[in-house]
Amino acid sequence: MSPFRSLFYITSGGCILCTGTNFITFNDKFYKKYIIPFFFMCDPEQAHSLLIFSGKYGLIPKSIYKDPPMLKTKLWDISFNNPIGLAAGLDKQGEITKALYNVGFGFVEVGSITPLPQPGNEKPRVFRLLNSQSIINRYGFNSDGHDVVFERLKNLKLHQNFDGIVGVNLGKNKESKNAVSDYVEGIKKFASVADYFVINISSPNTPGLRDLQKKNALKGLLSNIIEARNEYCGEHKIPLLLKISPDLTDQDKKNIADVINDKRYQVDGLIISNTTVKRVEVYDNPNALEPGGLSGKPLQETSTKLIAEFYKLTHGAIPIIGVGGIFNGQDAYAKIKAGASLLQIYTSFIYNGPSVLINIKKELECLLREDKYNSIADAIGADCKK
Ligand SMILES: Cc1cc2nc3c(=O)[nH]c(=O)nc-3n(C[C@H](O)[C@H](O)[C@H](O)COP(=O)(O)O)c2cc1C
Repeated sequence: MSPFRSLFYITSGGCILCTGTNFITFNDKFYKKYIIPFFFMCDPEQAHSLLIFSGKYGLIPKSIYKDPPMLKTKLWDISFNNPIGLAAGLDKQGEITKALYNVGFGFVEVGSITPLPQPGNEKPRVFRLLNSQSIINRYGFNSDGHDVVFERLKNLKLHQNFDGIVGVNLGKNKESKNAVSDYVEGIKKFASVADYFVINISSPNTPGLRDLQKKNALKGLLSNIIEARNEYCGEHKIPLLLKISPDLTDQDKKNIADVINDKRYQVDGLIISNTTVKRVEVYDNPNALEPGGLSGKPLQETSTKLIAEFYKLTHGAIPIIGVGGIFNGQDAYAKIKAGASLLQIYTSFIYNGPSVLINIKKELECLLREDKYNSIADAIGADCKK
């Protein structure tokens, strides 16, 4: 073989090996230089579809990073390898739950799922705001519906024996005349496959949905849902979580706390928060004028403050999953100290890829150690106890 040919083979082999290694180890620089820009060349919804395609066809690598033992968390009798979950909205149809779990999330939330299939709003309905690392979406619950998503999760959980933690996030159909029964149907349908349920009454893209956060509507909703959970989940009471909006007034917040502090309506957890209709720190971006819910960096402070408010309003008795603009370990730690027991991310994953997850976990471990905490549990609500 000529020396040039040998050199060619050695160089190409080296390049392939190096690319492969960077790809499977979720190398931060590699993803930021090649993978993310590749996805960002597509329109945001096409990029979302490409991610789902990659997950379906085994193109998302499994993480080889070992979670630090001190990040193990136990809540509702469920053991989480780490406290960082994937927020609802990415795996809406339960198509790539296992692939996403294997990326290193401590849990994956599927949905929001509506009882009947529905197309959601017209496209375009997702917008990137690059300079503020945020997204505006007005998907409007595009959903394959309960039956189809249930079959996928059943196949995963019952037939493939997948033991990762899967939350089922329930929504309502746009044209539904009875929101309460939409959620109750969801509890019945998914009782055999859900590790926890989320009652999503805070998406800004379904008309009237957020009115379910009002006192009397919430009481009616929760009493029916809790009854259904107790009836259909048998001995093992699947945790019920309520996902709330960051746009609540002070009175709304007090009312919600009054309702859930009452044993009759007590949920097992809160998810704080959904996207905001307010436009903070994004006015110089033309996409900021698009209607819909804003997520990512600009939501960070608002959601952390809301976590602290609810931690106090519920006397630390109702566990909180903190979500909104977590991009690094500091952001994650601030939410834990504000009162969150678990966390979720979405937008930072889109902007940075899977390396963001490893970075958050590493940084969180360091921050806990610096403050001499032995576990997440020790730090929950630390800033509210001062
Ligand atoms: C494109 C997109 C779609 C979303 N869809 C849902 C949804 O269907 N149900 C839901 O409860 N939250 C949904 N969310 C909200 C996220 O779950 C999360 O609460 C919010 O994005 C804040 O977290 P982040 O700043 O880490 O993205 C969606 C968010 C985005 C960006």
